Amino acid sequence: MMSAPNWQYHEPDHPGADFDAMAEIYDRNMQKYRDVQGEIDEILDYLALRPDQSILEIGTGTGEFAIAAARRCRKVYAVDLSAGMLRYAEKKAAARGVSNVQFLPGGFLTYSHAGEPLDGIVSQIALHHLPDFWKQIALLRMRKMLKDGGKLCLRDVVFSFDPEDHEKFLDDFICNAEEKAGANFARSISDHVKKEYSTMDWIMQGLIERAGFRVLQAKKSHGFFALYLCRKR
Ligand SMILES: C[S@@+](CC[C@H](N)C(=O)[O-])C[C@H]1O[C@@H](n2cnc3c(N)ncnc32)[C@H](O)[C@@H]1O
Repeated sequence: MMSAPNWQYHEPDHPGADFDAMAEIYDRNMQKYRDVQGEIDEILDYLALRPDQSILEIGTGTGEFAIAAARRCRKVYAVDLSAGMLRYAEKKAAARGVSNVQFLPGGFLTYSHAGEPLDGIVSQIALHHLPDFWKQIALLRMRKMLKDGGKLCLRDVVFSFDPEDHEKFLDDFICNAEEKAGANFARSISDHVKKEYSTMDWIMQGLIERAGFRVLQAKKSHGFFALYLCRKR
């Protein structure tokens, strides 16, 4: 295997949570804070998968989306940097009787796709682990792995609030999160804003378009999240 050049962003250094350590509790936490099934359905509706198609998920985490998608298509390649997350996801797929997901170690900048060109690529709440320049490189790499007309679904923490009002917006948002989901969740949001690489919506959309995708829908919610449904140009 070729080693990465010494100027390349080293993905395991990302400033996010220690995902290896949280695999066992991740799903339970997400069920409290997110409409996990609703998010999966929203993406599956857009992908409209056929039984002969194959897709890739990058930053699969505990594999919840990958396992659901595998029931609708031929194969899902599910990639993540965290060995702990992959081990947990693999066990879950086996327990649910799903055998057409291949769980693979790798990142946005290091996964090298050896299979056939893909019909779709999905990534949820993971691209913010990269600084913006490296997001652009990751999107260009994704485009190369897709068939012509292939689909990209990208959900992430993306800011669409007015930066002039960021102090009030963030104080209110984090306070509201604490009321709804407790102090630990509120702390994870503060840490996200302080340390991770979420970007503004107009930058995110520019990065996606400049990588060679058409954004068919940009669904923004709460000033804090966005889902981009895209097609390879
Ligand atoms: C917040 S979790 C999201 C998991 C899942 N996609 C979801 O929606 O719940 C972020 C995941 O991205 C992975 N990750 C972080 N940096 C990554 C990178 N550069 N390439 C691929 N995966 C990465 C982490 O290991 C973790 O499993």
